[in-house]
Amino acid sequence: MWGLRAGAAPRCTSGSPSLAHNNRFRGVRAAAMTMALICTAASIVCAVALTDDAPFYANSFEKVPASAAMTALGRELFFDASLSASGKVACATCHDPKRAFGPPNDVPVQRAGSDGRRPGVRAVPSLTYSQNVPPFTEHYVEDEGDDSLDQGPAGGRTWDGRAKSAHDQARLPLFSPFEMANPGVDAVVAKVERAHYAAQFRDTFGGHVFDDKTTAFKAVLLVLETFQQSPAQFYPYDSKYDAYLRHQISLSGSELRGLAAFNDPAKGNCVRCHPSAMRNGAFPQFTDFGYAAVGAPRNAAIPANADRRYYDLGLCGPLRTDLAAEKQYCGLFRTPSLRNTALRGVYFHNGVFRQLEDVVRFYAERDTAPEKWYSRGAKSPMVKFDDLPADYRSNVDTQAPFDRQAGATPAFNDGDIADIVAFLRTLTDGYELPPSGRSLRKMVHAAAENTSTLATITGVALISSP
Ligand code: HEC
Ligand code: HEC
Repeated sequence: MWGLRAGAAPRCTSGSPSLAHNNRFRGVRAAAMTMALICTAASIVCAVALTDDAPFYANSFEKVPASAAMTALGRELFFDASLSASGKVACATCHDPKRAFGPPNDVPVQRAGSDGRRPGVRAVPSLTYSQNVPPFTEHYVEDEGDDSLDQGPAGGRTWDGRAKSAHDQARLPLFSPFEMANPGVDAVVAKVERAHYAAQFRDTFGGHVFDDKTTAFKAVLLVLETFQQSPAQFYPYDSKYDAYLRHQISLSGSELRGLAAFNDPAKGNCVRCHPSAMRNGAFPQFTDFGYAAVGAPRNAAIPANADRRYYDLGLCGPLRTDLAAEKQYCGLFRTPSLRNTALRGVYFHNGVFRQLEDVVRFYAERDTAPEKWYSRGAKSPMVKFDDLPADYRSNVDTQAPFDRQAGATPAFNDGDIADIVAFLRTLTDGYELPPSGRSLRKMVHAAAENTSTLATITGVALISSP
């Protein structure tokens, strides 16, 4: 049995590792002029990306592009359906800004592709709070230098981490036959050159930006990435829970009990993978960026699953190909952030659940009442972990709350489930402070004189701004 997740090294229990990365790369950052321009409040992503992606970020444009101009262009592209082969699908079609840039509806996979009808194979992840996802590594060590703390695979973009950064990621939908289905770089660049914002592109990157297709395409990726790093839209930290962490409001009784059950190792133990506490002044991301197999039930509503031999195994394939030989990774998916999770219409990589309550109940009852969750409606006997071939079922996580036998009492009860759901709803952005509370804006202004207070109030996004 593979021991990284299940063995000696427990997953981190609180906080996010972003600061470690930030510190590690701080020295390099000063030297990078272009980066400094690109990186406004999003300097963590940039700092992380810098080592791997220096060639990508090195300025090869006539003009040094200003970050505000790139953000504005990125927004145009993100909403532009004409960038797809069908002319009908924009990034925003699948990543709905009203739903934290997650799926626009409650169907497990979206339809797109060259005819706009081809079904995808996975649920659309939210794009909020991915600004400090570390680059993918197979051996994540949070405490530098101590290899015994190897926590296994972590980081990267998509459910299996195969894209290392947001700009790398943008290549996938632009060319994927399931998504925007462009035949190649030239096709994308030609569309941008015809778009109403082409002049804005020239103003930002230089009059000859379209002369070289590679350079122009790099600009396309760069603006999409920069847009996805705008704090106001992608990581505002203005949920009810953030207001609670800032001591501006209190939570309700049910929300507080939910938080306690979420954190309690003898109940939800959710913090094992979804850290909920502030750490070093950074607000929690509700993911440790690690990978786990939680044993999501097979979803018959995904067309690809009509083929009984088809399995989405996450880290070990089939979408990701470099780790195909690592059988201990089969069934592992990246732990998503739970911020804004209540806005989703579908949950888990295969969108098998539509209600948040079902997800939480699944954690309680997966092992104590597996017949409620697996092979429902099938004529053959129940198969626990039915979305994994038999050989890989031992990869599924079995620590609390998953440490029970069939028929045993679940780690948490119906009341806890309702409370945890109430707590998860406090993680939705856009919470309006009650009129009696001082507005956040005022507090931030008042604190601007005082950096240490500013750190406490605004969290990691603002502290790290140059
Ligand atoms: C047809 C629907 C669809 C369209 C259109 C689409 N995406 Fe996605 N997006 C997805 C799905 C599904 C995933 C998860 C893919 C996976 O795990 O293999 C995803 C993943 C992502 C991720 C990774 C998030 C993370 O950290 O896990 C980013 C970033 C992203 N998309 C950005 C974009 C951008 C930018 C565009 C437009 C250029 C775009 N998407 C267009 C469906 C779509
Ligand atoms: C062993 C690590 C681990 C633990 C413990 C854990 N989760 Fe998760 N969580 C994950 C992973 C991995 C996924 C994605 C699984 C998939 O898609 O197959 C996930 C997905 C979710 C989702 C769906 C999010 C989305 O975008 O689809 C919710 C909600 C959730 N977890 C809540 C909880 C709650 C509540 C608890 C405690 C009762 C908990 N988790 C405990 C690892 C964990």
